[in-house]
Amino acid sequence: MCGIVGYVGSRDATPLLVNGLRRLEYRGYDSAGVAVQEDGRLEIRRAEGKLDNLVHVIAAQPLSGRSGIGHTRWATHGRPSEQNAHPHVDCGGVTAVIHNGIIENFEELKGPLVKAGHRFTSETDTEVVVHMLEDELKKGMSLEAAALAVVPRLEGAAALAFVSAKDPGKIVAARVANAGGVIVGYGQGENYLASDIPALLEHTRSVSFVEPGEFAVITANGVRFLDRGGKEIEKTRTTITWDTVTAAKSGYKHFMLKEIHEQPRVLSDTLLGRVERATGRVVFDEDLKLTDAQVRSLGRITLLGCGTAGFASLAGKYLIERLARIPCDVEIPSEYRYRDPVVSKDQLVVSLTQSGETVDTLAAMEEARKRGARLLTIVNVIGSQAARMSDDVIYLHAGPEISVASTKAYTTMLVDLYLFGIYLGQRRGTLDPNAAAKLLAEVFHLPTLVDAVLREEPKVKALAYRYHQARDFLYLGRGINYPTALEGAHKLKELSYSHAEGTAGGEMKHGMNALIDESLPVVAIALRDSIYKKMLSTIQEVRARAGVVIAVADDDDEDIAEHATEVIRVPHTNELLSPALAVVPLHLFAYHVADRRGNDVDQPRNLAKAVTVE
Ligand code: AGP
Repeated sequence: MCGIVGYVGSRDATPLLVNGLRRLEYRGYDSAGVAVQEDGRLEIRRAEGKLDNLVHVIAAQPLSGRSGIGHTRWATHGRPSEQNAHPHVDCGGVTAVIHNGIIENFEELKGPLVKAGHRFTSETDTEVVVHMLEDELKKGMSLEAAALAVVPRLEGAAALAFVSAKDPGKIVAARVANAGGVIVGYGQGENYLASDIPALLEHTRSVSFVEPGEFAVITANGVRFLDRGGKEIEKTRTTITWDTVTAAKSGYKHFMLKEIHEQPRVLSDTLLGRVERATGRVVFDEDLKLTDAQVRSLGRITLLGCGTAGFASLAGKYLIERLARIPCDVEIPSEYRYRDPVVSKDQLVVSLTQSGETVDTLAAMEEARKRGARLLTIVNVIGSQAARMSDDVIYLHAGPEISVASTKAYTTMLVDLYLFGIYLGQRRGTLDPNAAAKLLAEVFHLPTLVDAVLREEPKVKALAYRYHQARDFLYLGRGINYPTALEGAHKLKELSYSHAEGTAGGEMKHGMNALIDESLPVVAIALRDSIYKKMLSTIQEVRARAGVVIAVADDDDEDIAEHATEVIRVPHTNELLSPALAVVPLHLFAYHVADRRGNDVDQPRNLAKAVTVE
């Protein structure tokens, strides 16, 4: 969570830092702050709440300097307040720190510092670091030498950046374990630091990633990278291909709405170059290194992801088992890492993650790797930690997803899993060429179908306005659209703050039926697939108990209107592809319910985009 930025150069740092924070506000919005430094002075401004509050504070008390750091916070230790906002400073007010992550041993470290007379002003775990640095700097060390002495004593996960008036014109950044990105951006006579790429795009496309255990020493004229022993290391530079336009709202009221509407284009990007003309086989680029022999010898696939990416993993199980006949299981990453999982040599672990930074997912991947699994990640952010630590990578090509609520990353994950299922089936001989060709023809038609669903937005919006006051919602799906029900409920919860639950239609009679009454809208995905009749029976059972049913149905289904209270129509596609279509009106529904309620759609309360703490 939390966003960190830094700038060193010849320009006024404050507006650059605030701009960078604006691009990272999706990572946390409990408070924000900057520390700017020049001529042996360090100045700090901080404010509780959203970045705009900080902007007002800066307008009232301007500050200037040619280097500095900034932070937008998602609170872990200590409530959201100005006092707990980063940057934190040492007793003399000359050194400042910003931090993303959790320092697990901060209490142990704090005791001796308090005894030695350090004055603490916040309830955070972070503040210990700056007092420890203060002690090292007093010995006459450089900022990087002090950081090298302090950071190895921290336990947990941390992305940190320091500035000090004692060592001006310099930022030192460090990364302890997987605490979110630390990315250095290269400019001309100036250099940048950020936790995520959107904060850098305006200035540079040339970046390097700081790995766990590494340090970066950033000045206007250059950047040095050090390992934890202080030895200089070589870093490769990566060129980012995203542009600033895709990272902006482009006239939409919210990023979420823009990202929903981008899907026809983004899905086409995902499909680009993925089928070899001559053979009709699915191909991925060189980041997927699995050989055909390895594919044939796979014995089991474990899929894992958190939240929305977890529902995509579940859809992946249905897809891969159907297309490639490989047994799959789906794991919750935060459970997997702590439960002594059994991993076999012929097992592939497929992680799904938009950010590539989710700490639970990364830790589960590490656990699987330790036990001998091969790691494949399906990820959006190029060069992210998940991509860097995996043997094989399939990129989503969804472009930057800024809204906390994931939409286009979900549909592109579904499409990549569909392609991956066909890829495996073609190499294992479980899919005959005609069936594969038909499945592929249909997926290339998907962007047009999604476009048709988006044209129905006014109807979905009207429904959202009709039901926006309901306190509870139930989402039902079966088969491959069971994960769609889970995702529909998840999105409604996180955006509208209403209680919503998703379940498999067949489970209703085992308990959930007790909830049904006229005040509970039940959203049922009832497409004409292999399980359509069963879903119709479930809908009838709900109606028989006075329940209100909003059905998502095929556009040529003439019978559904007799059974459901309301119908949202989507074009027909094949069953395995249908989740990528059926989820679109559910995302729109959640968006409009939340917007109608006046909620902050892009930055829902208590959440953050990249969850880099446990
Ligand atoms: C999605 O709407 C959520 N905000 C959340 O569940 C998210 O999908 C989850 O935190 C995983 O993130 P990742 O894809 O970046 O790993």
